Amino acid sequence: MKTLILPTPESAIKRAADIIDHTVRATPDTVLGLATGGTMLPLYDELAQRHREDGLSFAATTSFNLDEYIGLAPDHPCSYHRYMAEAFFERVDIDPTRTHLPRGDAADPHVASNAYETLIEEAGGIDLQLLGIGQNGHIGFNEPTASIGSRTRIKTLTASTRQANQRYFASFEETPRYAITMGVATILESRKCLLLATGEAKADAVARMIEGPLSAACPASALQLHARATVILDQAAATGLKFSEYYETVHPQGRDRVFD
Ligand code: PGA
Repeated sequence: MKTLILPTPESAIKRAADIIDHTVRATPDTVLGLATGGTMLPLYDELAQRHREDGLSFAATTSFNLDEYIGLAPDHPCSYHRYMAEAFFERVDIDPTRTHLPRGDAADPHVASNAYETLIEEAGGIDLQLLGIGQNGHIGFNEPTASIGSRTRIKTLTASTRQANQRYFASFEETPRYAITMGVATILESRKCLLLATGEAKADAVARMIEGPLSAACPASALQLHARATVILDQAAATGLKFSEYYETVHPQGRDRVFD
């Protein structure tokens, strides 16, 4: 796992944006895996700004989001469909027909989950999967003890995830209990993974992901199995790491190689 520690949240966001920017300019028809959550909002701001001011084009890009709440239609204000439209899709030139999220309002979420896997396969797989991490170590909505072999499916959300997401809903009761999420194995099949975490609230989960045992108890630790996983952190999210001096030596200031 390549651990890049940046001094501030802003520089961490820029570092993640640089990787996506570079990938999309080098291969305009890249298949991106996308993520939601508060951490990603400034990243989408940065990408939208580069689109407006620096010619970064997503016109040929395909995207697959990690997850969607079950029971929310795409036009529900708290759906991830809406989040993505507002945060990113409507601010860049991506072709809406090439953007994909699981359908939370599908008549049969099991069928929709399997169909989502097929769509990813038909697109040739995901080139670069963007990921956040939950305070409980989840990636996507793969909650602690989710199988490392899991595929896109229905997951029941933990109370801690519902509490973390309650801020977007009127009450805890109204916060969805279920989601369709890519599985851990689906995520691991992406050619590259890019996980972004900022803020001290993530420090414990980040330490368990990078330096803890490989365990379904911390689904993000499954990234230890991925040969091309990059983790971008700000200082605050890195505070739980035992070997941060080593990461700083290998990637000074979050640069890619010591000899850059
Ligand atoms: P956050 O969510 O960016 O809102 O903290 C991350 C996640 O739960 O994956």
